[in-house]
Amino acid sequence: MHNEKQTLVAPSILAADFADLGRDCRRILDAGADWLHIDIMDGDFVPNISLGIPVLQCLHKAVDAVYDVHLMIRRPLDYIKQFAAAGADWITFHVEADSDVPATLEAIHAAGCKAGLVLKPATPAAAVSQWLDKTDLVLVMTVEPGFGGQSFMADQLPKIEQLAAERAARGLDFLIEVDGGVNAATAAHCRAAGADVLVAGSAVFGAADAAAAVEAVRG
Ligand code: DX5
Ligand code: ZN
Repeated sequence: MHNEKQTLVAPSILAADFADLGRDCRRILDAGADWLHIDIMDGDFVPNISLGIPVLQCLHKAVDAVYDVHLMIRRPLDYIKQFAAAGADWITFHVEADSDVPATLEAIHAAGCKAGLVLKPATPAAAVSQWLDKTDLVLVMTVEPGFGGQSFMADQLPKIEQLAAERAARGLDFLIEVDGGVNAATAAHCRAAGADVLVAGSAVFGAADAAAAVEAVRG
């Protein structure tokens, strides 16, 4: 069922020109991107600091898009209301973080957003099984979170397949998103494994022809 749907492409703004962020995001949306993927890093859950709530708030006012906010922060529950108010449409958080998972899913829904659970490479699909009926999306990381421009970890493909199989077996309809090292070549493997949404930072923002890059990832 999911394979009949068009794969969505969500470029990560981590690879954008931060000096002219609005313009660079519009360029990518005009090239056919479906969502904007916003990577939030706190320098604690991951060893890097990216951008925060005021940047999302300004970008959301300036650029009409679907905002997919990926929280790589230690206590996601404490910040859900602020990210929702700043313009997030989707909020995803790591099951390895410190917040209570069902309470965080509930807070995201209560704030009017779609909710997603994220798995680091070392975390098995089984870690989200008990919440699959309460989540709108599962994000499978195919790099260690923290930095753009890393190589795709092909050993994560079975995890995507397992989630797709469990979704079918249980009659659920959450989306499967893949993030990290996605380009035209690795995207094909992700789609074959059952992915619905593909995040691509450097492969899209760094491409000479953004429209061609978006279509190559979409497949
Ligand atoms: C990594 C981020 C990714 C990253 C993707 O922690 O979650 O979204 O920016 O960048 P590329 O596509 O360059 O691997
Ligand atoms: Zn991300």
